[in-house]
Amino acid sequence: MPEPRAATGTVVPIDKLSTSSDGEVLGSGGAPEVPWEKRVYFEVFGCQMNKLDSELMVGALEEEGYRLTDDVEDAGVILYNTCAVREQAENRVFSKVGALKPLKRKRPDLVIGVLGCSAQNHREKIFARLPQVGIVCGTGEFLRLPELIETARKQGRVAALKLDLETTPRFTRTRNLGPNPFSAFVSVMRGCDQACTFCVVPKTRGKELSRPVIEIVDEARSLVDGGVREITLLGQTVNSYGKRLAKGRSIGLQHVLHELNKIRGLERIRFITSHPRFMNSELVDAMAALEKVCEYLHLPVQSGADSVLKRMLRTYTIEQYRSVISQCREKIHGFAVATDLIVGFCGETEDEFQATVRLMEEIKFQGSFVFRYSQREGTRAAEDYRDDVPEEVKRERNQILLKLQQKISGEINTERIGLTEEVLVEGPSKFDAARLTGRNRANQIVVFPGKVDESLVGKLVPVLIQEAKPLVLVGERVGPGR
Ligand code: SAM
Ligand code: F3S
Repeated sequence: MPEPRAATGTVVPIDKLSTSSDGEVLGSGGAPEVPWEKRVYFEVFGCQMNKLDSELMVGALEEEGYRLTDDVEDAGVILYNTCAVREQAENRVFSKVGALKPLKRKRPDLVIGVLGCSAQNHREKIFARLPQVGIVCGTGEFLRLPELIETARKQGRVAALKLDLETTPRFTRTRNLGPNPFSAFVSVMRGCDQACTFCVVPKTRGKELSRPVIEIVDEARSLVDGGVREITLLGQTVNSYGKRLAKGRSIGLQHVLHELNKIRGLERIRFITSHPRFMNSELVDAMAALEKVCEYLHLPVQSGADSVLKRMLRTYTIEQYRSVISQCREKIHGFAVATDLIVGFCGETEDEFQATVRLMEEIKFQGSFVFRYSQREGTRAAEDYRDDVPEEVKRERNQILLKLQQKISGEINTERIGLTEEVLVEGPSKFDAARLTGRNRANQIVVFPGKVDESLVGKLVPVLIQEAKPLVLVGERVGPGR
């Protein structure tokens, strides 16, 4: 998994269904040896779910002879898999597509596609706003991409925007594009049945659909056969997994965890993102009992004030959230929790904001991802409330939480000094090539000297923690890798 980047107003982007306004270009250097019209430039924005969808899209394209290029000028097809969660991310993609106008004028055969959440959100309106776009394809039909490219070449424009449980794409992918050869994401469900008033995801991703346990286990097995040692299960509300799966039987995420725990060669299992409402004792017990399941939970709370949670329609109270955390801390040895917070949600008063500050001090999250509220068209909040917290107040509150989280992360990290942590090695540190970097079970980044021994990449090594910083732990390897 990547090391954290310092983004303005954002704290510790630990792995999560967080969103980013920076795109990631898929594909390696050099022009692929296929004709121009089969060369695809593919950029993905947003959460891990988008990255996983991109793997499925690229798989579908490669089956039809398309190949990735990282040179936009060299591509016959330019695709953006987009994120609609915040306006900033969406605007960035639209301005990138806008900048392609001269290229499209030079090469009228070029096919430009806007895919995923923003496509689902703005639908055919995208053609009017950006006439150079040939494909608008939502989250329900992206496996039709090869056919859509052909149609766009012949007809100029095509939209594919169906989104229902029948058209939901299959989950199975043909290759693992990331985050590295020994760590993989596996989707256990698509969509979201919640109705958080600020969130556009239910509109852009549709109803919740869980994938059968057997299919998840089969995919995990083949990933492990290919060298994967760590699997992160993905879902918008991953712990509500199992809904509508088997009539008359209750299946939950714990069943998946029990099955995956039996796979030989798989060393670590994580799952993101959990919703406080769906935490239950069976899941907590599974986390406590299964040795491969990491003691780490990403549990967005969003706000420390019940009144705000009510306006957000989050369907839990702070008391309930607290009780989930104390149950986890009681049962799961070494339990670590990270969260998401929104500042400046409609009508957020200073008192309500202070309740969030107090909650952070009380719970002591290992990391938090702080977002400034961004009003999204088509959400309940945009219809029912006014986006009335001034931008500078949002920014100020964001900074306060950022600083507080850094202090808390520093304190939590200090507690690890003197402990020996098992680290899954990812590779040389981006900031210091003389060190290797990886993560411990609690998902903290650990760096240690090791340039000379890159054979340790992908191995689990014991590291004695000697120094703590807010974003990383620094240590010394004290044993061989396995
Ligand atoms: N499924 C996750 C959950 O259970 O909460 C969250 C998915 S959402 C893509 C990721 C995070 O983005 C949310 O937890 C929330 O903090 C943030 N977010 C969503 N909509 C937002 C908005 N309109 N403005 C600011 N932040 C937002
Ligand atoms: Fe969004 Fe709430 Fe679902 S944050 S993804 S509607 S749980």
